[in-house]
Amino acid sequence: MQRLLTGLQPSGALHIGNYLGALKPFVGMYEEYESILMVADYHALTTLKDPVQLRQNILDVVRDYVAVGVDPKKALIFQQSEVQAHTELTWIFNTLITMSFLELAHAYKDKEARGIERTVGLFDYPVLMAADILLYDTDVVPVGQDQKQHVEYAREIAGKFNTAYGETFKMPKEQIRKDEASVPGTDGKKMSKSYGNTIPLFGTYEEIQKAVMGIITDSSGESPSNVYNIHRLLKSESELAPVYKANKGNYKASKEALIADIEAVVGPMREKRASITDADVKAILKDGGGKARARAEKKMLDVRKKIGVKI
Ligand code: AMP
Ligand code: TRP
Repeated sequence: MQRLLTGLQPSGALHIGNYLGALKPFVGMYEEYESILMVADYHALTTLKDPVQLRQNILDVVRDYVAVGVDPKKALIFQQSEVQAHTELTWIFNTLITMSFLELAHAYKDKEARGIERTVGLFDYPVLMAADILLYDTDVVPVGQDQKQHVEYAREIAGKFNTAYGETFKMPKEQIRKDEASVPGTDGKKMSKSYGNTIPLFGTYEEIQKAVMGIITDSSGESPSNVYNIHRLLKSESELAPVYKANKGNYKASKEALIADIEAVVGPMREKRASITDADVKAILKDGGGKARARAEKKMLDVRKKIGVKI
Protein backbone atom coordinates (compact mmCIF):
# COMPACT_ATOMS: atom_id res chain seq x y z
CA MET A 1 0.00 0.00 0.00
CA GLN A 2 1.27 3.46 -0.86
CA ARG A 3 1.74 5.94 1.95
CA LEU A 4 -0.15 9.21 1.93
CA LEU A 5 0.57 12.20 4.15
CA THR A 6 -1.07 15.56 4.34
CA GLY A 7 -0.83 18.48 6.73
CA LEU A 8 -3.71 20.52 8.10
CA GLN A 9 -3.22 24.07 9.22
CA PRO A 10 -5.17 24.66 12.43
CA SER A 11 -6.48 27.96 11.15
CA GLY A 12 -9.99 28.23 12.53
CA ALA A 13 -13.58 27.65 11.52
CA LEU A 14 -14.12 25.85 8.22
CA HIS A 15 -16.54 27.00 5.53
CA ILE A 16 -18.37 24.88 2.98
CA GLY A 17 -15.68 25.79 0.41
CA ASN A 18 -13.10 24.00 2.56
CA TYR A 19 -15.46 21.07 2.94
CA LEU A 20 -16.33 20.61 -0.74
CA GLY A 21 -12.84 21.55 -1.97
CA ALA A 22 -10.60 19.68 0.45
CA LEU A 23 -12.25 17.60 3.19
CA LYS A 24 -14.84 15.73 1.16
CA PRO A 25 -12.32 14.64 -1.52
CA PHE A 26 -9.98 13.50 1.25
CA VAL A 27 -12.69 11.42 2.90
CA GLY A 28 -13.33 9.81 -0.48
CA MET A 29 -9.75 8.63 -0.91
CA TYR A 30 -7.76 8.21 2.28
CA GLU A 31 -8.71 4.57 2.88
CA GLU A 32 -7.00 3.53 -0.35
CA TYR A 33 -3.66 4.46 1.22
CA GLU A 34 -1.80 4.08 4.45
CA SER A 35 -2.81 7.58 5.46
CA ILE A 36 -1.20 10.05 7.81
CA LEU A 37 -2.88 13.32 8.79
CA MET A 38 -0.66 15.80 10.52
CA VAL A 39 -1.83 18.90 12.35
CA ALA A 40 0.75 21.47 11.23
CA ASP A 41 0.82 23.47 14.46
CA TYR A 42 4.41 24.68 14.04
CA HIS A 43 3.54 25.92 10.57
CA ALA A 44 0.57 27.77 12.05
CA LEU A 45 2.91 29.43 14.55
CA THR A 46 4.42 31.44 11.68
CA THR A 47 1.17 33.40 11.44
CA LEU A 48 -0.81 32.72 14.64
CA LYS A 49 0.68 34.00 17.87
CA ASP A 50 -2.31 33.70 20.17
CA PRO A 51 -1.84 30.62 22.41
CA VAL A 52 -5.51 30.39 23.44
CA GLN A 53 -6.62 30.49 19.83
CA LEU A 54 -3.95 28.04 18.67
CA ARG A 55 -4.89 25.49 21.34
CA GLN A 56 -8.57 25.76 20.39
CA ASN A 57 -7.80 25.50 16.66
CA ILE A 58 -5.72 22.35 17.14
CA LEU A 59 -8.60 20.65 19.00
CA ASP A 60 -11.09 21.88 16.40
CA VAL A 61 -9.25 20.76 13.29
CA VAL A 62 -9.09 17.18 14.55
CA ARG A 63 -12.75 17.31 15.58
CA ASP A 64 -13.69 18.65 12.14
CA TYR A 65 -11.91 15.89 10.23
CA VAL A 66 -13.36 13.16 12.42
CA ALA A 67 -16.83 14.72 12.16
CA VAL A 68 -16.75 14.71 8.33
CA GLY A 69 -15.86 11.03 8.33
CA VAL A 70 -12.13 10.40 8.83
CA ASP A 71 -11.78 7.35 11.05
CA PRO A 72 -8.82 7.73 13.44
CA LYS A 73 -8.47 3.94 13.47
CA LYS A 74 -7.84 4.00 9.72
CA ALA A 75 -5.69 7.12 9.49
CA LEU A 76 -2.83 8.08 11.77
CA ILE A 77 -3.63 11.53 13.15
CA PHE A 78 -0.97 13.43 15.08
CA GLN A 79 0.38 16.84 16.00
CA GLN A 80 3.59 18.02 14.38
CA SER A 81 4.88 19.56 17.63
CA GLU A 82 4.62 16.17 19.37
CA VAL A 83 7.30 14.71 17.10
CA GLN A 84 10.57 16.59 17.62
CA ALA A 85 12.16 14.93 14.60
CA HIS A 86 10.34 17.42 12.33
CA THR A 87 12.21 20.44 13.64
CA GLU A 88 15.43 18.48 13.99
CA LEU A 89 15.36 17.34 10.37
CA THR A 90 14.50 20.90 9.32
CA TRP A 91 17.79 22.05 10.84
CA ILE A 92 19.75 19.37 9.04
CA PHE A 93 18.12 20.34 5.74
CA ASN A 94 18.84 24.00 6.49
CA THR A 95 22.54 23.23 6.36
CA LEU A 96 22.17 21.82 2.84
CA ILE A 97 20.09 24.42 1.04
CA THR A 98 20.73 28.01 0.12
CA MET A 99 18.95 31.28 0.76
CA SER A 100 18.45 31.85 -2.96
CA PHE A 101 16.71 28.47 -3.28
CA LEU A 102 14.15 29.48 -0.65
CA GLU A 103 13.79 32.99 -2.04
CA LEU A 104 11.97 31.45 -5.01
CA ALA A 105 9.01 30.34 -2.86
CA HIS A 106 5.69 31.90 -3.96
CA ALA A 107 3.95 31.41 -0.62
CA TYR A 108 6.60 33.41 1.18
CA LYS A 109 6.35 36.26 -1.31
CA ASP A 110 2.54 36.23 -1.10
CA LYS A 111 2.62 36.42 2.67
CA GLU A 112 5.21 39.17 2.56
CA ALA A 113 2.97 41.09 0.15
CA ARG A 114 0.09 40.72 2.63
CA GLY A 115 2.19 42.43 5.28
CA ILE A 116 3.03 39.36 7.36
CA GLU A 117 6.30 39.90 9.20
CA ARG A 118 9.26 38.29 7.46
CA THR A 119 10.41 36.01 10.26
CA VAL A 120 13.06 33.38 9.70
CA GLY A 121 10.36 30.81 10.42
CA LEU A 122 8.14 32.09 7.63
CA PHE A 123 11.11 31.92 5.27
CA ASP A 124 11.93 28.38 6.38
CA TYR A 125 8.32 27.17 6.13
CA PRO A 126 8.91 24.99 3.03
CA VAL A 127 11.82 23.21 4.72
CA LEU A 128 9.70 22.21 7.72
CA MET A 129 7.09 20.96 5.28
CA ALA A 130 9.75 18.94 3.44
CA ALA A 131 10.74 17.37 6.76
CA ASP A 132 7.07 16.50 7.47
CA ILE A 133 6.80 14.69 4.17
CA LEU A 134 10.21 13.03 3.94
CA LEU A 135 10.36 11.67 7.49
CA TYR A 136 7.66 9.11 6.75
CA ASP A 137 8.78 7.88 3.31
CA THR A 138 5.65 9.42 1.86
CA ASP A 139 4.56 8.47 -1.67
CA VAL A 140 1.62 10.78 -2.16
CA VAL A 141 0.83 14.27 -0.82
CA PRO A 142 -2.73 15.44 -1.55
CA VAL A 143 -2.80 19.23 -1.55
CA GLY A 144 -4.47 22.19 -3.18
CA GLN A 145 -2.78 23.90 -6.14
CA ASP A 146 -1.26 26.53 -3.82
CA GLN A 147 0.91 23.88 -2.14
CA LYS A 148 2.33 22.33 -5.30
CA GLN A 149 5.59 24.23 -5.11
CA HIS A 150 6.12 23.12 -1.53
CA VAL A 151 6.01 19.47 -2.55
CA GLU A 152 8.50 20.27 -5.32
CA TYR A 153 10.73 21.74 -2.62
CA ALA A 154 10.44 18.49 -0.68
CA ARG A 155 11.60 16.53 -3.74
CA GLU A 156 14.53 18.84 -4.37
CA ILE A 157 15.60 18.72 -0.75
CA ALA A 158 15.38 14.91 -0.76
CA GLY A 159 17.58 14.93 -3.88
CA LYS A 160 20.14 17.21 -2.27
CA PHE A 161 20.36 15.04 0.82
CA ASN A 162 20.55 11.80 -1.15
CA THR A 163 23.31 13.23 -3.35
CA ALA A 164 25.29 14.44 -0.36
CA TYR A 165 24.90 11.41 1.93
CA GLY A 166 23.54 8.52 -0.11
CA GLU A 167 20.04 7.23 -0.84
CA THR A 168 17.92 7.99 2.25
CA PHE A 169 14.69 9.74 1.31
CA LYS A 170 11.93 8.64 -1.00
CA MET A 171 10.71 11.06 -3.69
CA PRO A 172 7.16 12.16 -2.84
CA LYS A 173 4.56 13.10 -5.42
CA GLU A 174 1.94 15.78 -5.05
CA GLN A 175 -1.62 14.89 -5.84
CA ILE A 176 -3.32 18.09 -6.84
CA ARG A 177 -7.07 18.15 -6.48
CA LYS A 178 -7.51 18.96 -10.17
CA ASP A 179 -11.23 18.92 -10.42
CA GLU A 180 -11.44 20.70 -7.09
CA ALA A 181 -14.67 22.57 -7.08
CA SER A 182 -14.02 26.26 -6.73
CA VAL A 183 -16.87 27.03 -4.39
CA PRO A 184 -18.20 30.56 -4.85
CA GLY A 185 -19.07 32.64 -1.83
CA THR A 186 -22.15 34.69 -1.06
CA ASP A 187 -20.94 37.45 -3.41
CA GLY A 188 -20.08 35.13 -6.31
CA LYS A 189 -16.30 35.45 -5.77
CA LYS A 190 -14.33 32.44 -4.53
CA MET A 191 -15.46 31.61 -0.99
CA SER A 192 -12.73 32.71 1.37
CA LYS A 193 -12.42 33.80 4.97
CA SER A 194 -10.47 36.85 3.83
CA TYR A 195 -13.35 38.03 1.59
CA GLY A 196 -15.96 37.67 4.35
CA ASN A 197 -18.26 35.80 1.93
CA THR A 198 -18.39 32.39 3.60
CA ILE A 199 -21.10 29.97 4.58
CA PRO A 200 -19.87 28.30 7.78
CA LEU A 201 -19.62 24.51 7.66
CA PHE A 202 -20.32 23.89 11.32
CA GLY A 203 -22.40 26.98 11.98
CA THR A 204 -25.79 26.67 13.60
CA TYR A 205 -28.79 26.29 11.33
CA GLU A 206 -29.52 29.98 11.91
CA GLU A 207 -26.00 31.02 10.89
CA ILE A 208 -26.20 29.01 7.69
CA GLN A 209 -29.65 30.45 7.02
CA LYS A 210 -28.39 33.99 7.53
CA ALA A 211 -25.40 33.46 5.21
CA VAL A 212 -27.52 31.93 2.42
CA MET A 213 -30.22 34.59 2.70
CA GLY A 214 -27.41 37.12 2.29
CA ILE A 215 -26.29 35.71 -1.07
CA ILE A 216 -26.19 38.58 -3.51
CA THR A 217 -28.68 38.16 -6.32
CA ASP A 218 -29.23 40.40 -9.28
CA SER A 219 -32.70 40.76 -10.65
CA SER A 220 -31.81 40.37 -14.32
CA GLY A 221 -32.24 36.59 -14.66
CA GLU A 222 -34.99 34.16 -13.90
CA SER A 223 -32.90 32.21 -11.44
CA PRO A 224 -30.24 33.58 -9.10
CA SER A 225 -26.87 32.41 -10.44
CA ASN A 226 -24.97 32.96 -7.18
CA VAL A 227 -27.42 30.62 -5.44
CA TYR A 228 -27.46 28.06 -8.23
CA ASN A 229 -23.65 27.94 -8.52
CA ILE A 230 -23.35 26.80 -4.92
CA HIS A 231 -26.37 24.53 -5.15
CA ARG A 232 -25.05 22.60 -8.14
CA LEU A 233 -22.10 21.43 -6.07
CA LEU A 234 -24.53 19.64 -3.75
CA LYS A 235 -27.05 18.26 -6.23
CA SER A 236 -27.07 17.23 -9.88
CA GLU A 237 -28.40 19.48 -12.62
CA SER A 238 -31.28 17.13 -13.27
CA GLU A 239 -32.30 17.21 -9.63
CA LEU A 240 -32.09 20.98 -9.55
CA ALA A 241 -33.81 21.76 -12.86
CA PRO A 242 -37.39 21.21 -11.61
CA VAL A 243 -36.67 23.11 -8.38
CA TYR A 244 -35.40 26.19 -10.18
CA LYS A 245 -38.17 25.95 -12.75
CA ALA A 246 -40.82 25.91 -10.05
CA ASN A 247 -39.10 28.78 -8.23
CA LYS A 248 -38.66 30.96 -11.32
CA GLY A 249 -38.49 34.60 -10.22
CA ASN A 250 -38.80 33.61 -6.56
CA TYR A 251 -35.23 33.91 -5.29
CA LYS A 252 -36.23 33.43 -1.68
CA ALA A 253 -37.65 29.98 -2.42
CA SER A 254 -34.44 28.95 -4.19
CA LYS A 255 -32.43 30.10 -1.21
CA GLU A 256 -34.68 28.11 1.10
CA ALA A 257 -34.13 25.02 -1.03
CA LEU A 258 -30.37 25.57 -0.82
CA ILE A 259 -30.54 25.95 2.97
CA ALA A 260 -32.42 22.66 3.21
CA ASP A 261 -29.85 20.89 1.06
CA ILE A 262 -26.89 22.28 2.99
CA GLU A 263 -28.59 21.29 6.23
CA ALA A 264 -29.14 17.74 4.96
CA VAL A 265 -25.37 17.37 4.53
CA VAL A 266 -24.21 19.40 7.50
CA GLY A 267 -26.83 18.42 10.10
CA PRO A 268 -25.54 14.88 10.77
CA MET A 269 -21.91 16.05 10.73
CA ARG A 270 -22.71 18.84 13.17
CA GLU A 271 -24.29 16.31 15.51
CA LYS A 272 -21.31 14.00 15.28
CA ARG A 273 -18.96 16.93 15.89
CA ALA A 274 -20.82 17.93 19.05
CA SER A 275 -20.35 14.42 20.42
CA ILE A 276 -16.54 14.53 20.08
CA THR A 277 -15.11 15.87 23.35
CA ASP A 278 -11.75 17.51 23.97
CA ALA A 279 -10.77 14.34 25.81
CA ASP A 280 -11.61 12.25 22.71
CA VAL A 281 -9.41 14.49 20.56
CA LYS A 282 -6.56 14.35 23.06
CA ALA A 283 -6.76 10.54 23.12
CA ILE A 284 -6.61 10.39 19.32
CA LEU A 285 -3.59 12.71 19.26
CA LYS A 286 -1.81 10.85 22.06
CA ASP A 287 -2.16 7.55 20.27
CA GLY A 288 -1.17 9.02 16.89
CA GLY A 289 1.73 10.97 18.39
CA GLY A 290 3.25 7.83 19.87
CA LYS A 291 3.05 5.95 16.59
CA ALA A 292 4.40 8.84 14.52
CA ARG A 293 7.26 9.39 16.97
CA ALA A 294 8.34 5.76 16.73
CA ARG A 295 8.42 5.86 12.95
CA ALA A 296 10.16 9.22 12.77
CA GLU A 297 12.77 8.18 15.34
CA LYS A 298 13.69 5.16 13.28
CA LYS A 299 14.24 7.35 10.24
CA MET A 300 16.26 9.87 12.23
CA LEU A 301 18.61 7.16 13.45
CA ASP A 302 19.53 6.46 9.85
CA VAL A 303 19.86 10.18 9.12
CA ARG A 304 22.10 10.80 12.14
CA LYS A 305 24.34 7.92 11.11
CA LYS A 306 24.55 9.16 7.53
CA ILE A 307 25.50 12.72 8.42
CA GLY A 308 28.07 11.62 10.98
CA VAL A 309 26.70 12.93 14.27
CA LYS A 310 25.97 9.42 15.55
CA ILE A 311 29.41 8.37 16.68
P1 AMP B 1 -7.45 27.79 3.17
O1 AMP B 1 -7.50 27.65 4.65
O2 AMP B 1 -8.22 28.95 2.63
O3 AMP B 1 -6.04 27.69 2.60
O4 AMP B 1 -8.20 26.52 2.58
C1 AMP B 1 -7.80 25.21 2.85
C2 AMP B 1 -8.14 24.35 1.66
O5 AMP B 1 -9.56 24.38 1.43
C3 AMP B 1 -7.51 24.85 0.36
O6 AMP B 1 -6.28 24.25 0.05
C4 AMP B 1 -8.52 24.47 -0.67
O7 AMP B 1 -8.24 23.18 -1.13
C5 AMP B 1 -9.84 24.44 0.05
N1 AMP B 1 -10.65 25.63 -0.26
C6 AMP B 1 -10.64 26.83 0.37
N2 AMP B 1 -11.55 27.68 -0.17
C7 AMP B 1 -12.13 27.00 -1.19
C8 AMP B 1 -13.17 27.32 -2.13
N3 AMP B 1 -13.79 28.49 -2.15
N4 AMP B 1 -13.51 26.38 -3.02
C9 AMP B 1 -12.90 25.16 -3.02
N5 AMP B 1 -11.96 24.80 -2.16
C10 AMP B 1 -11.56 25.69 -1.24
N1 TRP C 1 1.49 24.03 4.15
C1 TRP C 1 0.28 23.25 4.11
C2 TRP C 1 -0.93 24.19 3.94
O1 TRP C 1 -0.85 25.34 4.25
C3 TRP C 1 0.12 22.44 5.36
C4 TRP C 1 1.18 21.40 5.51
C5 TRP C 1 2.19 21.38 6.45
C6 TRP C 1 1.32 20.23 4.71
N2 TRP C 1 2.94 20.25 6.28
C7 TRP C 1 2.45 19.53 5.24
C8 TRP C 1 0.62 19.72 3.62
C9 TRP C 1 2.90 18.34 4.67
C10 TRP C 1 1.04 18.51 3.07
C11 TRP C 1 2.19 17.85 3.59
O2 TRP C 1 -1.98 23.73 3.54
